[in-house]
Amino acid sequence: MALPSVHLRLALLLLLAVCASAVHPRKLTRFGGVRRFTTSEPSYELPPEYEIHYYTQTVDHFNYKPDSYATFQHRYILNYKYWGGANSSSPIFVYTGEETDVTYDVETFILDLAARFKVSILLLQHRYYGESMPFGSEDQAFQNASTLGYLSSEQALADYAQVIVDVKKNLSAENCPAVAVGASYGGMLASWFRIKYPHIVIGALASSSPILYFDDITPQNGYHVVVTKDFIDTSESCYNTIKQSWSEIDRIAAEPNGLMTLSNKFNTCSPLNTSQELKDYLEIMYVSAAQYDNPPYYPVERTCRGIDGAPEGTDILGRIVAGLKSRFRGWDSCHDIFTFELSNKSAWDWQTCTQIVMPIGYGYNETMFEAEPFDINNYTKDCLDVFGIVPRPHWMTTEFGGHDIKTVLGNFARNIIFANGLRDPYSIGGVLEDISDSVVAVHTEHGAHCSDLHPPTPDDPDWLVAQRDKEIKIISAWIAEYYAKLATK
Ligand SMILES: *[C@@H]1O[C@H](CO)[C@@H](O)[C@H](O)[C@H]1NC(C)=O
Ligand SMILES: *[C@@H]1O[C@H](CO)[C@@H](O)[C@H](O)[C@H]1NC(C)=O
Ligand SMILES: *[C@@H]1O[C@H](CO)[C@@H](O)[C@H](O)[C@H]1NC(C)=O
Ligand SMILES: *[C@@H]1O[C@H](CO)[C@@H](O)[C@H](O)[C@H]1NC(C)=O
Ligand SMILES: *[C@@H]1O[C@H](CO)[C@@H](O)[C@H](O)[C@H]1NC(C)=O
Ligand SMILES: *[C@@H]1O[C@H](CO)[C@@H](O)[C@H](O)[C@H]1NC(C)=O
Ligand SMILES: *[C@@H]1O[C@H](CO)[C@@H](O)[C@H](O)[C@H]1NC(C)=O
Repeated sequence: MALPSVHLRLALLLLLAVCASAVHPRKLTRFGGVRRFTTSEPSYELPPEYEIHYYTQTVDHFNYKPDSYATFQHRYILNYKYWGGANSSSPIFVYTGEETDVTYDVETFILDLAARFKVSILLLQHRYYGESMPFGSEDQAFQNASTLGYLSSEQALADYAQVIVDVKKNLSAENCPAVAVGASYGGMLASWFRIKYPHIVIGALASSSPILYFDDITPQNGYHVVVTKDFIDTSESCYNTIKQSWSEIDRIAAEPNGLMTLSNKFNTCSPLNTSQELKDYLEIMYVSAAQYDNPPYYPVERTCRGIDGAPEGTDILGRIVAGLKSRFRGWDSCHDIFTFELSNKSAWDWQTCTQIVMPIGYGYNETMFEAEPFDINNYTKDCLDVFGIVPRPHWMTTEFGGHDIKTVLGNFARNIIFANGLRDPYSIGGVLEDISDSVVAVHTEHGAHCSDLHPPTPDDPDWLVAQRDKEIKIISAWIAEYYAKLATK
């Protein structure tokens, strides 16, 4: 299969990834990519208070052709440990799973919310990720575009609606208010769920959800401009070194045995075939540092400390190497400069080639990176090569909105928190301004991707504690309002 061009490669690698990576490094391969989750690999071993259930789910919620009545076993997880019970109409917090095995998402801020609000937690697995494969098995589900065609955000939201309604019925919990919580792509799903199914959840906490990074609502270069700003704000000399390093890599690559020189200098596990491989690797290192620039590790600061702190007289690439060493403290094995072969196409690859088309690109001198404009024709060609399908770059805004969001959500929506950390490059595509008194933006200057949903620790900085407190206060008000109305029914 043809190698995807840089556009698709970056799109596939940059996109969202997952939030709880700090909790579960196994979730992330290669520092920021989204890999395919296989059903054969073990799920995270859950503490005993989590009950795993399988629901007989409809493969196609939107078609009545006789041959589309197929079902699959959809995994969801319940935790009643904190629940006040149906008789007291205690709330249910619903975690709208993102592009990963949902068992990795159990230890988030939602646990603290659950204890505080005496809620039961319902974690929903996104179809085609982890255990929840239509067509009986992963091999069948990933066969071709016909079997992958049932992988879409709309189908996933309908799955979630179906399970929530049925779980409430089975628990006689019809009066219990449900609140959607999600992170990253799952945060987009949480906010869309509230918009599409307002009769099922009373509100949504959408953490780090770039719902405006579609259809050029957000400038294409926004993501990399924020990455660049994170580095400039940390150290201008560090930024300058990185900016100069790309042409330096080219200069050395052009020398006789230049690629060998670079391979040795960067201690790559296998010899470089092109200088682009090295540049892509470094780019992923910088963008993932920015996206996950969370306490207590602060990888941007750590990288720059290495770059700036190299001994006097160290050349540019020597400084870059020192930056990598500093970021991965104690790292002394070789660097696995991965290739981007999509031999095992992930479910996320499919989603980016169908609906989740985020036009991310940047021109010359706009960022600390070499120019890499977004080109929908090249992107389409890659998707045709890999899956035989043509992306629908305007569908997400048609389906869920996005343009003129302030007026649109201001006119009809209620009870959504859009949480962001401004160091997260995806925050540029998030909702950063209050839309109304109940559709609100809660962002922090120092936060990164999904900082607020990480499990609280005693060492958390004040700004993070304050962000979470604000979210708790808002959710309390939703629940209080719900009970006030219930009492007068
Ligand atoms: C809940 O209410 C029902 C009906 O009033 C009652 O039979 C049941 O015992 C109650 N359950 C609990 C746990 O209090
Ligand atoms: C996809 O695979 C199924 C099962 O093997 C097959 O019936 C179907 O024709 C294939 N569809 C395409 C478009 O290749
Ligand atoms: C609710 O109960 C029915 C009957 O036991 C069962 O078939 C169904 O799967 C349950 N729903 C969920 C969401 O577990
Ligand atoms: C160079 O190409 C070979 C053969 O395709 C591959 O095994 C190797 O991983 C590549 N090297 C790098 C650094 O990607
Ligand atoms: C691709 O996925 C299949 C099915 O899960 C697995 O057997 C195979 O080892 C994977 N190949 C690679 C290169 O990861
Ligand atoms: C690019 O930026 C550098 C400084 O960062 C500046 O010296 C140079 O003139 C700029 N080039 C162009 C074409 O704008
Ligand atoms: C699109 O692909 C063509 C052919 O590979 C390439 O020459 C061109 O530079 C690409 N466009 C962009 C904007 O990268």
